[in-house]
Amino acid sequence: QPSAQPFVPENHSLPTLRAALPACKGCDLYQHATQVVPGAGAAHAKLILVGEQPGDQEDLQGEPFVGPAGKILDRVMAELNIDRSKIYVTNAVKHFKFVQRGKLRLHQNPRMSEINACRPWLLAEVDSIHPRVILCLGASASKSLFGGTFALMRDHGKILQTPYANQVIATIHPSAVLRARDQESGEQLYNFLRDDMALAWHTAQ
Ligand code: URA
Ligand code: SF4
Repeated sequence: QPSAQPFVPENHSLPTLRAALPACKGCDLYQHATQVVPGAGAAHAKLILVGEQPGDQEDLQGEPFVGPAGKILDRVMAELNIDRSKIYVTNAVKHFKFVQRGKLRLHQNPRMSEINACRPWLLAEVDSIHPRVILCLGASASKSLFGGTFALMRDHGKILQTPYANQVIATIHPSAVLRARDQESGEQLYNFLRDDMALAWHTAQ
């Protein structure tokens, strides 16, 4: 089984993790990505947001949630008066997985084996930050912390216990808002994300 574990240092401080991350060959995804994308934010954040994996923009810039999905996240946080510098934002998988189609690089969902391989980095970040609440954005992050059979639409918006943190909440991924088939369902998905984010934020205070 592929795993990042041999590449994760014993010392879990964020600078140590960040320094070790570029050497990871825990699964095959390092081979085609531009760079690894570490988490970003407050070292003692009360709330951690976990996305799926870097997208095209994140892969180029080396920062999480700076592309279109990040814009949705920023809009939700602005509406809820959440200062992004007070939380910590990371991904379940640290390298961008894509297929090349002409000039475009199309996002591909990570496999469970890749989510599992990368989990030691996520757990090391959680260990270092020791947040009150973790909010999983979408199915991949939820599967990383709750296991592959997690039912997002059934169990989103609930405060759940895991071995890693006492309060973990799952919600939809912000890119689901971008992919909505029409404006009305886009608004519904946006509200869904906002309400779960509000629960996570208030639980963490
Ligand atoms: N989508 C994610 O899940 N994470 C990012 O960092 C960007 C887009
Ligand atoms: Fe390592 Fe994760 Fe990148 Fe795979 S995706 S090479 S486990 S950092």
